[in-house]
Amino acid sequence: MNERPYVMVNIAMTADGKTDTIARSGAAISSPQDMERVDRLRAESDGIMVGGHTLLGDDPRLTVKSERLRRERVKRGLEANPVKAGVVTRANLRPDSRFLTAGLGRVMVFTTTQTDAAQIDLLRQQGMQVFVIGEQRVDLSAALTELKQAGIQRLLVEGGGRLNEELLRLGLVDEISIYVAPLIFGGAQAPTFASGPGLKREAAIRLQLVEVENLGDGGIVLHYLPETD
Ligand SMILES: NC(=O)c1ccc[n+]([C@@H]2O[C@H](COP(=O)([O-])OP(=O)(O)OC[C@H]3O[C@@H](n4cnc5c(N)ncnc54)[C@H](OP(=O)(O)O)[C@@H]3O)[C@@H](O)[C@H]2O)c1
Repeated sequence: MNERPYVMVNIAMTADGKTDTIARSGAAISSPQDMERVDRLRAESDGIMVGGHTLLGDDPRLTVKSERLRRERVKRGLEANPVKAGVVTRANLRPDSRFLTAGLGRVMVFTTTQTDAAQIDLLRQQGMQVFVIGEQRVDLSAALTELKQAGIQRLLVEGGGRLNEELLRLGLVDEISIYVAPLIFGGAQAPTFASGPGLKREAAIRLQLVEVENLGDGGIVLHYLPETD
């Protein structure tokens, strides 16, 4: 049996590959059409994961926005919203954060020994499932195994670049979709699809382009499969 869920990474970026402006405050990039596409992806997923900087900086809701899609999930015997999962070195989430409070679904927090025991207790008292798996960084393979054991077959990863890069480098990604908006943000330090320390040319992660979807709004969606060999 596969020990991890099927993992799809989805992100929106500008034509110059930026996933946010230099201000790093979660700039809007998706068009309304792309937001609908992402909502459908969320509705088809059992869990949605984000990295620590996205979690603490953007405080995303990670819920299914469409009432119709939520109703359809319930008809299929699922919770209205997928499980939310955060990968965060120090889980200093505010109790009233949107990530913790929006929607009624389960929340799983994967963190390291750098999170205070008192903070972990607080999150658990709020009903979160907290997993301490790592000292410097969260062990992503272990996190995916926990998610699979929690019944998550299909996981949607919604960035940021650090989490995307680490999952890809570890060979833990099955599919990628990237909305490319007709915008340019510039900024050498603005976040991109994959960050981290950077790879040498010979270690580049190679992708197979499987589809180019034109959303008719000036933006396109690139669908890739990571090459495995
Ligand atoms: N356009 C989009 O679709 C989109 C989507 C999501 C995010 N974003 C943008 O992306 C930016 C944030 O991205 P980011 O690359 O800075 O951060 P990120 O990927 O959201 O979070 C990465 C951080 O999570 C923690 N972490 C712990 N264990 C990890 C592991 N094993 N692998 C990876 N990360 C681990 C680390 O925190 P420490 O460094 O504290 O140890 C790491 O730096 C924001 O500006 C956000 O708005 C854009």
